[in-house]
Amino acid sequence: MPSQESGRSRILVIEDNKADQGVFGRTLAAFDLTFVDSGEAGLSQIELEPFDLVLLDFQLPGINGDLVLSAIRSGKHAEIPVVVISGIGNERLAVDLLKRGASDYLTKADLLTSRVADAIQEALDRRAVENSRRRGEEELRLRKDELERSFRQLQENQGRLIQSEKMAGMGQLVAGVAHEINNPLSYVTNNIAVLDRDVRQIVALMARYRAYLGDDLPPEIQSAEDAIDLDYSLGNIDRLFRSTRQGLQRVGEIVAGLRDFSRIDEAEFKQVDPNEPVRSTVEMVRYQIRQKNINLIVEIDPLPTVWCNPGRLNQVLLNLLVNAIQAVGDSAAITVRTRFLAESDEFQYEVSDNGPGIPESIRGKIFDPFFTTKPQGVGTGLGLWIAYNIVQEHRGRIELTTETGAGTTFTVTLPTHQPDEPI
Ligand SMILES: Nc1ncnc2c1ncn2[C@@H]1O[C@H](COP(=O)(O)OP(=O)(O)OP(=O)(O)O)[C@@H](O)[C@H]1O
Ligand SMILES: [Mg+2]
Repeated sequence: MPSQESGRSRILVIEDNKADQGVFGRTLAAFDLTFVDSGEAGLSQIELEPFDLVLLDFQLPGINGDLVLSAIRSGKHAEIPVVVISGIGNERLAVDLLKRGASDYLTKADLLTSRVADAIQEALDRRAVENSRRRGEEELRLRKDELERSFRQLQENQGRLIQSEKMAGMGQLVAGVAHEINNPLSYVTNNIAVLDRDVRQIVALMARYRAYLGDDLPPEIQSAEDAIDLDYSLGNIDRLFRSTRQGLQRVGEIVAGLRDFSRIDEAEFKQVDPNEPVRSTVEMVRYQIRQKNINLIVEIDPLPTVWCNPGRLNQVLLNLLVNAIQAVGDSAAITVRTRFLAESDEFQYEVSDNGPGIPESIRGKIFDPFFTTKPQGVGTGLGLWIAYNIVQEHRGRIELTTETGAGTTFTVTLPTHQPDEPI
């Protein structure tokens, strides 16, 4: 880079011979020259001012030219071109100096020719080309980084979109099913209550008929009673109604779970018992659990109500549970646990399975969007990424312990209070 004031390239000439300095002054008038007469002075001058090139005499008092060259190449200004001039023409020395990073090698015999100026100009030109190549490379690298960043951003946005559509679709479906079941459920529940009351009244009335007639039943009535085993039926009525009511209550719980779950895409924080999302999510996967004959253990610790987004916590638990269900094989066991950590005022969800574990080689990738080891159509690779983001939203953390062949445990730890919760 030429010096700013003169527009000429700035050359530091390290030369102890005054006569030679004079020659340089005449032959290199096109350049802006600064003279020093020792290697030491040259090295300190380089630190003081910016130079475009160093013209270095090989034979110097004090430290010699080759040491000055090495010092420049290993210092802060390693990039600066150095043209070496030696009193003696020596091919071996020339090769050695070029290997050590000299830009060119001349002898004092060249002093009065245009060789020196030409060599200097060539070295400066090479340096300019090198600089522009480096700038180009740097620009390319920046562009590449930028592209990679945009690509990652795009991938994440796409992931969010797919997942939110998937969850919204699922929420709608579940809400629809819950609604459809709820209608017949409510009239069946009503009818059963009325039936229960009416049947009890009829049974009481029959008891009065019997008391009135005593043992004198007409034979056709006696045989009709025997045919339907009336005594047994009457004795069974209570039990039948009880188990029917229990069944209906169970259906009611399932519907409530589905409705709770269908609020999955509600972007809403509220005060809730964090065990609720566990109950409704377990309800959601109960069918798959039964189909795969999995031994599901749910251990619920009483938890304080917390400020959280229950729909989003459903999503976390669903993703962890579905992964566990998909991972396990024969004699499968899955445990879902909640735990209150009084000392740190946090609570935990834990989902453990006795599946194959997660191989070391992929542990670093499982939270990446679109990372999946499952066949197309089974996994999109978004479950854990979404879970991770939701846990972040709640200022919590998600950790895993896993052992090949023994199983995997995901632990989600969340604070019971959020800084922005209403008091
Ligand atoms: N409990 C587990 N046991 C073994 N491997 C697991 C378990 N949970 C997750 N993984 C591994 O982590 C990968 C990423 O899981 P993630 O839930 O993000 O995506 P996915 O289950 O493949 O697809 P999606 O959840 O979108 O349907 C899985 O493909 C699987 O290889
Ligand atoms: Mg998954």
